[in-house]
Amino acid sequence: MTDFESVSPPARRSCLSVPASAPRKLAKARALGADEVVVDLEDSVAVSTKDDARAAAVEALRDWGDQTVAVRVNAPRSRWCHLELAALAELSRQPRSIVVPKVESAGDLAFVDRLLDGVEAAAGRSCPLRVQALIETPPGLASVNEIAGSSDRLEALILGYADLAASLGRSPAGAAALDLWLPAQEAVLIAARRHGLQAIDGPFLGTAVDEPFQAAAVRARDLGFDGKWAIHPSQVAALNELFTPSQEELAHARAVLAALERGEQEDRAGAVALDGEMLDEAVRRSAIRVLARSVPGAARG
Ligand code: COA
Ligand code: MG
Repeated sequence: MTDFESVSPPARRSCLSVPASAPRKLAKARALGADEVVVDLEDSVAVSTKDDARAAAVEALRDWGDQTVAVRVNAPRSRWCHLELAALAELSRQPRSIVVPKVESAGDLAFVDRLLDGVEAAAGRSCPLRVQALIETPPGLASVNEIAGSSDRLEALILGYADLAASLGRSPAGAAALDLWLPAQEAVLIAARRHGLQAIDGPFLGTAVDEPFQAAAVRARDLGFDGKWAIHPSQVAALNELFTPSQEELAHARAVLAALERGEQEDRAGAVALDGEMLDEAVRRSAIRVLARSVPGAARG
């Protein structure tokens, strides 16, 4: 069995979704500066074009280059999911990960795992495809902890708003009210952190970088999410900036670590003061997390 721990997950500040059935968008997507491009075979692809979209995704992956790419397949139990997993797992240039939508149980990921195990073994692959699980249904949300701990392939949980709003019966006004999403956001975030996964905020349906988009992205960042999905190129730069620590935050994190280090060496102190603030082990962990979120050359001014 391959070592899943050896490669840390890529940055996912901005994850740009692009329909596999839209050749012009697919061609543009890789040059738009998104940390990850998510080639979509699911909701943005009409039922009548699923087979063509799968072929287009496979074709696009052949010469994708170094940029992180994921493919969102159709849901487990759909008539396309197994075909899509098999087609992607045997490619010589694989995507980094598969986004599995509407994950409702650990069993859904076990199905994906076993199928990928078999196809990868047959194709002689040593680098396993990673998986990201979209949590976007009431059963998925209710089982999110179990799902988060169920697969070595799992790298991230993504909270999906559009499907969740529809299945909860949430009105458009409710879907737009950020506070109503807080319990779902906390559930996904806590499950992700408990199992060492990234937590990614799904897209809202607007294509602009307007006040609601900014507010949703700031909320996700401040809660602790690692990044967010974009559905339009204009949103990519805004997300990259928002989810990158500022120079000030980076300098503060470095100062925290230095002060704690000095305290430990000089007085063997676990808690020290810096500019009127108490620093201890918990603050050290936060500072380390801030530094880990910095993408080389991308700190905000
Ligand atoms: N990826 C790459 N390029 C995109 C893009 C995307 N997601 N969305 C738009 N573009 C491109 C367009 O092709 C256009 O470029 P062009 O003028 O050179 O052709 C440019 O960006 C401006 O696009 P715009 O005219 O504003 O949007 P549109 O009407 O063409 O498309 C959507 C609007 C919503 C259909 C489109 O943004 C989209 O398909 N988004 C992703 C949908 C998706 O993946 N949904 C599933 C996850 S929720
Ligand atoms: Mg959906």
